[in-house]
Amino acid sequence: MIKQDKKNIFIETYGCQMNEYDTELVRAILRKAEYRFVEDELSADVVMLNTCAIREHAHRKVYGRVHEIKHKRQGTPVKIGILGCMATNLRTELLENKNLDIDFIAGPDSYKRLPALIQESYQTGKKNFDVTLSEFETYSDVYPMRKEGVNAWLAVMRGCNNFCTFCVVPYTRGRERSRSVSNVVDEVKHLADDGFKQVTLLGQNVNSYKEGGHDFASLLEAVSKVNGIERIRFTSPHPKDFPDQLLNVVAQNPKVCKQIHLPLQSGNDRILELMNRTYTQDEFLKLVDKTRKLIPNIALSTDIIVGFSTETDKEFDDTIKVMKQVRFDSAFMFKYSERKQTIASRKHEDDVPEAIKTERIVRLNELQKQIALERNEAHIGETHSVLIEQEETNKSKDHYLARCDNNKIIIVPKGPYYKGEIHQATITKASPHGLKGNVLK
Ligand code: SAH
Ligand code: SF4
Ligand code: F3S
Repeated sequence: MIKQDKKNIFIETYGCQMNEYDTELVRAILRKAEYRFVEDELSADVVMLNTCAIREHAHRKVYGRVHEIKHKRQGTPVKIGILGCMATNLRTELLENKNLDIDFIAGPDSYKRLPALIQESYQTGKKNFDVTLSEFETYSDVYPMRKEGVNAWLAVMRGCNNFCTFCVVPYTRGRERSRSVSNVVDEVKHLADDGFKQVTLLGQNVNSYKEGGHDFASLLEAVSKVNGIERIRFTSPHPKDFPDQLLNVVAQNPKVCKQIHLPLQSGNDRILELMNRTYTQDEFLKLVDKTRKLIPNIALSTDIIVGFSTETDKEFDDTIKVMKQVRFDSAFMFKYSERKQTIASRKHEDDVPEAIKTERIVRLNELQKQIALERNEAHIGETHSVLIEQEETNKSKDHYLARCDNNKIIIVPKGPYYKGEIHQATITKASPHGLKGNVLK
């Protein structure tokens, strides 16, 4: 048997921030078991892909990548493991696919079993898996091995009970469960000691956080009392869970950033009902109004799905109408992609032709690009407090990438200020994707 401490691990992450965070948990668990990490698949003994199942495209990318790794490593032994949402979604298909030849599979609640799964794979050579979903696992006893930086992800709850009919997450990640306030606060203190300036609280449905009589608003308040942490963000909330108390905390607590992601999905009542989103267009618009009245400088972003089962042109026009009315600062837009296991895949045929989905998403993208540009241009001349995150990597090395409180990216020239610091900056230019400005000295 190869000695454990000789093994090199390479992990690649797909999907959402929760998966990024989970990779940090996996690294911590494997480090404790004395595995080492490498930065590429060529020098690794074990390659793990932490996968996403949200849309078909995500699946295809992973299949392609496994073939690529096998090709690059022809002749040299390598174990391949699939983690994450595809693991629970496609366990049998993955294991039985002879072309893929996967060695082990671990679902999102089974990461503590990874050292054993890897060892068993070396000992027996057999394919092995653990995709059991837990009602309790929150990894509250694991301190993630995070990348250095300004922001730390921290999952305060896992799983989702909403069962939006299009969505695979309740099946891949199981039921909702939350960590205790004291456990989260302890970790945030640790983060502050480690030099992080911002924490982003994560959950598939983060604002339905509930534990020991505390709700999400009281969790935010508790986290904001930790010295050293300057900014708190959270994602993704569901529009159904925005009591006034939560909006008041966002409005009044200076550490809670003035930014809310409010996934709309569709602007049409019939489609919203088919999606099981549990709100109407009118209720969504009222929530936006109330939020903007309480927090006038709030930036709002959203997610939209175009071409959900049976969506007509007229119904899609309602989405356009809401987008024009709300004028989100940014939006993620997706073509509906039918997923195995979901309620929609059983009950509602994926009958909108691909060409129409494309037409709708193109229209929506153009509209949103214009709105984002106008909303960003409205900031020109304003002064915002910005957190310097990192060197700007795209262009010259003489700029920093910083972030306004409202989550907008701002590029500023380098000067006598450094990563992790908050400064005042004047905004001089805008594009649909971000801002440019100068730090006030
Ligand atoms: N828990 C988060 C979303 C997770 S998935 C929330 O409720 O906001 C992120 C986004 O992917 C969703 O908001 C939705 O817009 C999109 N999405 C989810 N399932 C999809 C599917 N089957 N096809 C296309 N887009 C999908
Ligand atoms: Fe999916 Fe809906 Fe849960 Fe979000 S709230 S993870 S879209 S089921
Ligand atoms: Fe993908 Fe799973 Fe996140 S399906 S979006 S990695 S919760």
